[in-house]
Amino acid sequence: MRDLTPKEKQDLARAALEARERAYCPYSRFSVGAALLCGDGAVVTGCNIENAAHAPGSCAERTAFVKAVSEGRRDFDAIAVAGGRAGREPEDHCAPCGVCRQVMAEFCGPDFTVLLVRSEDDIRAYTLEQLLPAAFGPMGGREVLS
Ligand code: THU
Repeated sequence: MRDLTPKEKQDLARAALEARERAYCPYSRFSVGAALLCGDGAVVTGCNIENAAHAPGSCAERTAFVKAVSEGRRDFDAIAVAGGRAGREPEDHCAPCGVCRQVMAEFCGPDFTVLLVRSEDDIRAYTLEQLLPAAFGPMGGREVLS
């Protein structure tokens, strides 16, 4: 895990909390925001975007990765995730779903930092390795393609 400074963590947490306000979640009423810190310092945000047909919906984390990768970015240091019942402050540390963890593993190494944000001052830090041990990768193992 690249050690983020306390200010970097707070800034990323704030960006995730702000992105959460843009969630489109009329079906679950559970809003999630994500903020992805790129190697060059840029921050790409995402929110969950639901759909009446359910399956086409996207999680906040995947929205951020899809935006970033489609803009040519592939170097990532950390992601902050904040989620909870829409219209309220997060009541807990919302963890990324399994599909989002797998998407992270496609582009990020085991030391990638995942911040679970309840508030700017209540952040839990994990490595991707901790959240997705023994991940499946291109050859079965967990190497990352460049
Ligand atoms: N959700 C995310 O955005 N990220 C996760 O990692 C977990 C779940 C969204 C999907 C859906 O719109 C809502 O939260 C309820 O599951």
